[in-house]
Amino acid sequence: MGISTRQKLPPSGKPKKRLSLSSVLFVSVLLLFAGCVKQPLPEAGSPAVDVYIGKCGLCHEPYHPQAHTYIGWKTVVTRMEKNAQAKGIERLLSDDERTTILAYLEKNARKGF
Ligand code: HEC
Repeated sequence: MGISTRQKLPPSGKPKKRLSLSSVLFVSVLLLFAGCVKQPLPEAGSPAVDVYIGKCGLCHEPYHPQAHTYIGWKTVVTRMEKNAQAKGIERLLSDDERTTILAYLEKNARKGF
C-alpha cells in the first residue's frame, strides 16, 4: 500500500481553443472556390465574349475557358448543341457563332491535351 503515483495531472485549466488550423483551412478552401466561380471571363466586353455569354450562358453560367483544353471544348460544344436540341432549340449556334466561340475558347483554353 502506498500513495498512488499514477495521479492524473489536472488539465491545464485553459479550455481548448477549437478554432483549429483545420477550420481555418476549411474557410480558406471555401473562399478559394468562391473565387473560382467569380473569376471573370477573359476578354470580357469583346464581341466574342458577348456571343459566348449569349449562347453558352443560356442554361447555366458560362464556364471559364480554363475549364477545358481546346480539344475538350470541341467535344463539349458538340454536346451542348445536343443538349439544346433536347430542349427544343434546334440550332443553338450558327456556323459563324460556333467559329467565334471555338476561336475564343481555343485562345483562352487550358493548355495541353
Ligand atoms: C440547352 C441548354 C444548354 C446550353 C445552351 C449550353 N449548355 Fe452547357 N450544359 C447543359 C447541361 C444540361 C449540362 C450538364 C450535362 C452535360 O454536361 O452535358 C451542361 C454542362 C456544361 C459544362 C460542364 C460539363 C463539362 O463537360 O465540363 C460545360 C463546360 C458547358 N456546359 C459548356 C457549355 C458551352 C461552352 C456552351 C455554349 C456552346 C453551353 N454549355 C451551352 C446545358 C446547356
